[in-house]
Amino acid sequence: MIALTVNGKTHSVDVSPEMPLLWVLRDVIGLTGVKFGCGMALCGACTVHVNGEAVRSCVLPVSVAVGKKVVTIEGLAPNGTHPVQRAWVAQQVPQCGYCQSGMVMAVAALLAKKPAPTDADIDAEITNICRCGTYTRIRQAIHAAAKKA
Ligand code: FES
Ligand code: FES
Repeated sequence: MIALTVNGKTHSVDVSPEMPLLWVLRDVIGLTGVKFGCGMALCGACTVHVNGEAVRSCVLPVSVAVGKKVVTIEGLAPNGTHPVQRAWVAQQVPQCGYCQSGMVMAVAALLAKKPAPTDADIDAEITNICRCGTYTRIRQAIHAAAKKA
């Protein structure tokens, strides 16, 4: 058994220590807000926080998260009230929505580190891929969230 703390709750999961964290979150614990995109740490759809850092959970063995705080989109803020979530709604960012939970988690981690990121910071740190091309509104929403965070 592996004990994991996810969104403030402890889960005992009977999985191999090598299983990617993403699989454990989605398939074992049932948190389906986190998405599978590429499975190769390229697209960022699977981004969650581990001890406050944005990580690509599709390539992270679950054993690396033991003893740390894992947060998924479901645990980011009660009732979706995180400044990034509010800005996403206000700017109507999502199209299909598939990439967006990973985007929001990546941006929330960025703003926790850099409360007022420049466009260059955003280019360097937010490398998530959106097939729908919502990048312009993502950038606007990041700047809007930065003012409120
Ligand atoms: S699914 Fe993890 S980065 Fe694409
Ligand atoms: S909103 Fe569709 S992939 Fe980003």
